[in-house]
Amino acid sequence: MTITETEQTATRETTHHGPDHLVLSEHPVFRRFWYAACFSDAVTDGPVQRTVLGRELVVWRPVPGGPVSVAWNRCAHRDAPLSMGWVKDCHLVCPYHGWEWDAQGHTQRIPQFPTAPHPTKSGLTMVRAQERYGMVWVCLAGEDEGGPLADLPEVPEWGAPGWRTVPEKQWDFDCTAMHLVENNVDPGHVAFVHKNTFGNPDNAELTEAELERTPYGFVTRSEVPVEARPGETGSTVRSTVSQVHLPFFMALHITYPDGLGHVMLKAITPVDDERCTIIQTVLRTDREEDRPAADIVAFDDVVEQEDADLLNRLPAAFPLAPRLNAHAKADRNSLLLRRMYTELVTGRWSPG
Ligand code: FES
Ligand SMILES: [Fe+2]
Repeated sequence: MTITETEQTATRETTHHGPDHLVLSEHPVFRRFWYAACFSDAVTDGPVQRTVLGRELVVWRPVPGGPVSVAWNRCAHRDAPLSMGWVKDCHLVCPYHGWEWDAQGHTQRIPQFPTAPHPTKSGLTMVRAQERYGMVWVCLAGEDEGGPLADLPEVPEWGAPGWRTVPEKQWDFDCTAMHLVENNVDPGHVAFVHKNTFGNPDNAELTEAELERTPYGFVTRSEVPVEARPGETGSTVRSTVSQVHLPFFMALHITYPDGLGHVMLKAITPVDDERCTIIQTVLRTDREEDRPAADIVAFDDVVEQEDADLLNRLPAAFPLAPRLNAHAKADRNSLLLRRMYTELVTGRWSPG
């Protein structure tokens, strides 16, 4: 369904049925989605710590080069952070008293009295995990909560002939995951926030864009004038198809007039109620000798910092109720996003 102007007008005037602000920890439904915890290659010899939805996690590889395991980062014995430990003989070792667990979190050894029976509840609290798109994904919801509500999005360009992969970085933001998604579907900010990279305040006018609800969230199609593209100078226009997979994953499919394809995978992860992180990978149809990966990453490093400088200064709470802000024609994406979050937290939306 394409959202028409009439419907948008109606959106503004419709009574809001939901909370005024979205606080993630108040809605268990957010535990039922996959979030990228880190790049796969961030997990090598030792355990690493990440926080997702306020839950501190430990991520490790029981076998070098093998699949990851993920658990709560808290030892059942005396609460030590397991990420301070190490991996030995396929076991995760606690740094405090040396208890050991296997890949499934079962207790394998208590070194002080190795032959004594293991206490009940000595095992780890495991978290569902998988690796895809060069990232480690986790879903906090256990079986009792129904597990994941949606599969990971398909990205047709990933591994397709003619496409190369440019893993970028993980950038941290002092704002909610919703603010960062909203920023990424906000065409109006580019000319101003990114005036030193690819925006131009004197060229802020937008053209009409398409906006369509989908089973996974929504998609927008637009033509965006830009002053530069990574590692280059000179204005051009990018035809962008932006998919938002609720709640926080985005795939931006950009095509330039010369045929260059540039896809941005933006895996936005809520760290807690007030912070988020983005793990970003780019897919391109050109070659390293055409545009070095280092140029692409350096460009986005500056772009993300430009967004962070602004987003980190916004009020902490994310508004859902339309009456809390003023909305102009350029805010259709944002209004739909807020409406879909409202539907999600009031049980009126589920992924198709
Ligand atoms: S706190 Fe982990 S073994 Fe004692
Ligand atoms: Fe931005």
